Amino acid sequence: MGAIDQEFRRRGFTFRTLCVMALVVCAGCSPQDPELTASNNTDSDAPAPAARETAALYQRTCFSCHSTGINGAPRTGDQQAWATRMDKGMEVLVRNARDGYQAMPPRGLCFDCSDEEYGALIRLMAESAN
Ligand code: HEC
Repeated sequence: MGAIDQEFRRRGFTFRTLCVMALVVCAGCSPQDPELTASNNTDSDAPAPAARETAALYQRTCFSCHSTGINGAPRTGDQQAWATRMDKGMEVLVRNARDGYQAMPPRGLCFDCSDEEYGALIRLMAESAN
């Protein structure tokens, strides 16, 4: 609490009064820390948690080749390059991501991805605008 008190003092009395009032009001309506409640808020415009997880997973795995198109990898957001791949059907693409396909190494750096996750990653790469 020491740091917060210092912060209050630095910003002056009016702000401090407001904060104290806000804390008192919030204490009555929620048993949680108000800051925690705010960051868990799901009613915002932020992407859904699943989409965000897929994006983070992509950054750790497929990104290293599919962002630049190393060795002829279809580039993320290059909808034309992906269209010919997508024509094979999602089932085939998921299998090829998992088992490898020509220059595409098996599992594409995601060693614990499920088929659903491969599907989500492939959709992200094929459908995202560049
Ligand atoms: C080490 C580089 C590398 C990584 C990492 C990588 N890829 Fe690839 N990927 C490639 C290359 C190269 C190709 C093109 C293969 C070809 O057509 O010869 C490819 C092609 C593909 C294809 C098309 C396969 C087909 O049947 O046409 C899919 C689907 C794919 N990758 C999914 C993924 C996914 C999902 C990830 C992340 C989990 C990933 N890749 C990570 C290099 C990579």
